[in-house]
Amino acid sequence: MLTLHSPLDMHVHLRQGDMLRLVAPHTARSFAAAVVMPNLAPPVTGAAQVLEYRQAILEAAGHPFEPLMTLFFREYSRAELEEAKPHIVGVKLYPAGMTTGSEAGLADMERAAPTLAHMEALDIPLLIHGEGCGFVMDREAAFLPVVERWSRDFPKLRIVLEHVTTAAGIALLERCGNLFATVTLHHLLITLDDVIGGLMRPHLFCKPVAKRPEDRAALREAALSHPRAFFGSDTAPHPVTAKEAPGCAAGIFSAPVALPALAALFEELGALDRLQAFVSDRACAAYRLAPPAREVTLRRRAWTVPERIGTVVPYLAGQTLNWMVD
Ligand code: DOR
Ligand code: ZN
Repeated sequence: MLTLHSPLDMHVHLRQGDMLRLVAPHTARSFAAAVVMPNLAPPVTGAAQVLEYRQAILEAAGHPFEPLMTLFFREYSRAELEEAKPHIVGVKLYPAGMTTGSEAGLADMERAAPTLAHMEALDIPLLIHGEGCGFVMDREAAFLPVVERWSRDFPKLRIVLEHVTTAAGIALLERCGNLFATVTLHHLLITLDDVIGGLMRPHLFCKPVAKRPEDRAALREAALSHPRAFFGSDTAPHPVTAKEAPGCAAGIFSAPVALPALAALFEELGALDRLQAFVSDRACAAYRLAPPAREVTLRRRAWTVPERIGTVVPYLAGQTLNWMVD
């Protein structure tokens, strides 16, 4: 048995409508709180929309659960950010067109500075989908110089490099003291070989794409030990019809398996005692959070991940896991 104190998922996509009602209980069952991404249609760009979305999440969650809300990055005035600040934990920046729901993202990084200055002054963290242009395997590396520049230009701004996938991204943490990173479950487990090295596996296709074995090794090391790396699943459900399609949507629905699969991995790495830090303590320190006190217990009990949850194929479908959320 393993008891986690206020486990947190610092990066989730909960969607809207029927999909929200289907997936939110899976996050709320395992996590005391989660950072909710704003890439809806239309994106979440104002305080009123944040409050409305938060209410819909609370109604869908079905467990005691705190949604930690975010705004979608655009050019904001100081007054707009001041109005939103009591209701959000950060602003999420998507480079335009890089992933699902990023069409309204930022096309020109040079235009970010005035808004970043307001965020620094108001102490609102910046969350980044860190991919630039170029060859798909190199997109994260291509964006790191922008992250490093913002980290220098805005030294008091806390910046979170979301779903880091590369050893270079982890290395950047050493050069930037105000930089943090979320690490997903799937990037700790798979490499690009698992996605396209044999038969193509649409349910493992996500952005940023999984990288090389040496990148995965760096992510594992950071998950075990780095004080500024913490868990964010990037659970991103899409209906099976959008995944098993000629143009497969990017995203892996990992919420139902997140804690059991993390426990299995940490156990395999001989580091079960470090899971609490990865799934809660380091995130609390980074975001200066006092999450709702909630204990979540994992038991050593075998179960088989369902092939479908409603319209969605979950990560690790059909596989047997040896840890179960009580
Ligand atoms: O794979 C992904 N899916 N990566 C993202 O950045 C967005 C997400 C989604 O919203 O489906
Ligand atoms: Zn995401």
